[in-house]
Amino acid sequence: MIIAANLKTNLTRIETLKYLKSLESCLSKKSITQEVLVFPSPTSLNTHDGKVTIGTQNAYGASNGAFTGEIGSIHLDEFGIKTILIGHSERRHVLGETQEDLVKKFNFYRNLGFKIVYCVGEPLEVRETGFDNMMQYISKQYAGIDTEYENLIIAYEPVWAIGTGLTPTSEDIESIHKELKKKSSAPLLYGGSVKVSNAKEVLGIDDVEGILVGGAALIAEDFCKMCEIAQEIEKS
Ligand code: 13P
Repeated sequence: MIIAANLKTNLTRIETLKYLKSLESCLSKKSITQEVLVFPSPTSLNTHDGKVTIGTQNAYGASNGAFTGEIGSIHLDEFGIKTILIGHSERRHVLGETQEDLVKKFNFYRNLGFKIVYCVGEPLEVRETGFDNMMQYISKQYAGIDTEYENLIIAYEPVWAIGTGLTPTSEDIESIHKELKKKSSAPLLYGGSVKVSNAKEVLGIDDVEGILVGGAALIAEDFCKMCEIAQEIEKS
């Protein structure tokens, strides 16, 4: 399974180093063989040696240039980073990235062979309009995206479940993932208020092939525990 931590705008450079040190030590103590991804804040990106793959939460779709405030692929190359998160709901809804922006970014990093974790998900008001409308909304987030890209991972994250403590029912997650698997055979993660106490249930759902965790991943031991839960489920 794929267990990913999106640290968002949390943990300084020093805190991230400590975090990765505790995480690595826990993962090796528990002999975790799952794929573990961590997305630190941009100033905490660094080279990393260990089991964890470091990815960037964002980067501009250019190697470098006049894009004030952004980082480009040369900044990722410096640290050997080849994994990127694209389409996260906070980038879509808080930072205003359009589908067109995301497609450009996707194509740029796909052409560089990056592993891309591409996020999709609906806001509450869309969900309330019913299943078919919701699926239509999510389908639009696949527009222009190469769903057959070999290094693609998709994360379904309902916007209303992010950081709220609310999660869809297991039946809901199962039926949405079943539909999404028809659009792409890429590994499909679930994200939105996953924590140690519900990870077993979420990871046990059909077509859930991993999790993307925000707030509950900020404590290295808790995130490691979720990796352990994934490993137990995979074995059983
Ligand atoms: P929370 O786990 O804090 O709900 O965040 C989920 C998320 O946005 C991961 O990308």
